[in-house]
Amino acid sequence: MKKDNVSRRSFLQSSGLTAVGAVLAAQVPSVSAQDVAPTDAAVPAILGGPKAHKSGWKGWPQWDAEAWGPKMDAVMKSRNWSRSGKVSEFEKKWADMNGVKHCLTTVNGTNALSAAWMQLDIRPGDEVICSPYTFSASVFGVLYKGAMPVWADIDPMTFQIDPEKIKEKITPRTKGILPVHICGYPSDMPTIMKIAKEHNLFVVEDACQAHLAEIDGKKVGTFGNAGCFSFQGSKTLPIGEGGAILTNDTDYYHHLYSYHNFGYASGSVAGQISSITAVILANKIRMAEYQAVIGLCQMEKIEEQHKLRNENASYLTEKLSVYPGVTPVKFHKGGTQASYYIYSMIYNQEGLDGLSRERFIEALSAEGVPVGSGYPNDPIYTQPFLHEVFKSDIYKKFYSEDELDFEKYKQRNHCPALIKTFNTALWIWNPALMLGSKSDMDNIVNAVDKIHNNVAKIKTA
Ligand SMILES: Cc1ncc(COP(=O)(O)O)c(C=O)c1O
Repeated sequence: MKKDNVSRRSFLQSSGLTAVGAVLAAQVPSVSAQDVAPTDAAVPAILGGPKAHKSGWKGWPQWDAEAWGPKMDAVMKSRNWSRSGKVSEFEKKWADMNGVKHCLTTVNGTNALSAAWMQLDIRPGDEVICSPYTFSASVFGVLYKGAMPVWADIDPMTFQIDPEKIKEKITPRTKGILPVHICGYPSDMPTIMKIAKEHNLFVVEDACQAHLAEIDGKKVGTFGNAGCFSFQGSKTLPIGEGGAILTNDTDYYHHLYSYHNFGYASGSVAGQISSITAVILANKIRMAEYQAVIGLCQMEKIEEQHKLRNENASYLTEKLSVYPGVTPVKFHKGGTQASYYIYSMIYNQEGLDGLSRERFIEALSAEGVPVGSGYPNDPIYTQPFLHEVFKSDIYKKFYSEDELDFEKYKQRNHCPALIKTFNTALWIWNPALMLGSKSDMDNIVNAVDKIHNNVAKIKTA
């Protein structure tokens, strides 16, 4: 192995890169596989070398049976399984942790989002500007109200809806904005709220992936009329299934409460036959007591875990920033913390001498780093569920033939930065991974380093 290469590798493993980052960045692409006479450890796993990360990663979600088992047992033995004290306790704690007045739990994030839209004054004929880097669950509620989703492109460096693109999409019919804090990184809520205020628009934040993410010390999900969360099993606050809506608007909260419990008056108690007068058209999407117990147990650790994920992510981002082939996703100005539900990067094929993203993913996976390409190239505004909705009587009544022409709809809503992102995103999607040690993070950096140093061989192997 050449001396240069030895010193560069050990430096990456053992110390900070701030002062010399630019110098290293210049060095990286000049080191080609041909220059390297690798020791075993420097041989990429995909070419037969040892994995950079050998020990595997902890599983997710996690359950501390000793500490939490008795709590679960107590609620099961109480025979009080439907919504009661534990659900209320969970709601109070989640509201307090996020610094907001009200929290209402639901069966999942999809229904939290739908309920949030159902209880806002949005009607057929209205338009809601949505972030397209997401999937169907984000937008069902907009469609239940008969409104038209309009898609504003994302910023390819942050993956979040681009406020400038939102502005371009505003018409006299615009009534709402649906930002999605995708991958758990914050969308630019201060700018979005400014636009919403100027145009008198509702804002429902899809914070389903973004527990405790922050903008200048303020949690995401607390900027708009509502912030919706998912506690599905892969999330950083996992329950298996579960959801919540945060709001500071007390009147709106009472409507949401009634909606989630058969339309009974707000505060009505589960299972009480004496209060069966429904006051609004509603649903039944209550969280159960045993779900709340799981959530309360997870909540004991979430702040400490959130801090560790952010420390690890900063460390990783700094170390990876010297590699021209991978650019860690950035925060918009003001963004301070992410949930790191998914640690995201942007792949640059040129920075890796033409190595395809697919081959890079294979090589990094072989090193023991769980990485994927994220959502497939199937933009939400082209998906059949929307086309089906456009064929419904209600849509035909409120929208012109031209508006419902699906080919024209797809063209109008085309988002080039989204398409680019489908082809360049890298997702490290493992909430347990970001709770690893510094040396685990070094292993990820070393894995990338090995690939960078052996591009030519990996391409032809
Ligand atoms: C961005 C986003 N929106 C909505 C949802 C829906 O949440 P749930 O799966 O809890 O219904 C999810 C969860 O997967 C999500 O990631």
